[in-house]
Amino acid sequence: MKKREIVIAGNWKMNKTPFEARVLAEAVRERCENAACKVVICVPFVDLFQAKEGLLGSSKIALGAQNVHWAPSGAFTGEISAEMLLSCGTEYVVIGHSERRQYFGETDESVNRRTLAALQAGLKPIVCVGETEREREEGLTESVIARQVKAALTDVDEAALENLIFAYEPVWAIGTGKTATSEQAEEVCRYLRDLVKELYSDAAADALTIQYGGSMNAKNAAELLSMPDIDGGLIGGASLKPDDFAVIVNAGSEKAARL
Ligand code: PGA
Repeated sequence: MKKREIVIAGNWKMNKTPFEARVLAEAVRERCENAACKVVICVPFVDLFQAKEGLLGSSKIALGAQNVHWAPSGAFTGEISAEMLLSCGTEYVVIGHSERRQYFGETDESVNRRTLAALQAGLKPIVCVGETEREREEGLTESVIARQVKAALTDVDEAALENLIFAYEPVWAIGTGKTATSEQAEEVCRYLRDLVKELYSDAAADALTIQYGGSMNAKNAAELLSMPDIDGGLIGGASLKPDDFAVIVNAGSEKAARL
């Protein structure tokens, strides 16, 4: 069983033209090339090639996409397959982000299909789960996380789990500047790890990388990453600012050095 990995991933969302993506990827490489943790930039599909160029074959910084279809090819207008992503040098893919669940009809079932297809093709899924503000207020956080995690992992075997990352992203904290406190984030990340322990084994749960996402920034990253069950971050807004992103990556490196 592999050792738990610290992974700091930038989610650029729908930002940057290909030219701008190359410039930003270069800026990230200059600042993060010596990181002791894994660094990923998840960019729009059309930016993949230019972002890869900007990374200049970096072995530390990997390329990610923000969605993948479950079919290998076919009549799915507007979709992208795992093989297409792999052929652009993509290693990771964000699946089930709350913006996709909220605005684009992503369901627990489609998240599972995309996850299985990604794993089968050799892409590493970053599967996003998280409750809305209302669900938290109603005391439903754990049941929502349990439902999303169990659905995403349907038919995923223990060996494949090594290549999968979960990102706990409370919907109320995304892009709002309202970060979960480190205790709130830790509580849910620990709950998620316990679920994986129940579903698989102690070793699988121990090796699993669980990120926190939602207004993570240069100021709060070290504190969030000091929690025992938070093994990285999925960073939106701050990943577009290379200096801020580098501070978060540094916090990730320090955590990796402590493991
Ligand atoms: P944010 O986004 O850091 O801008 O809140 C996080 C995410 O959506 O992955």
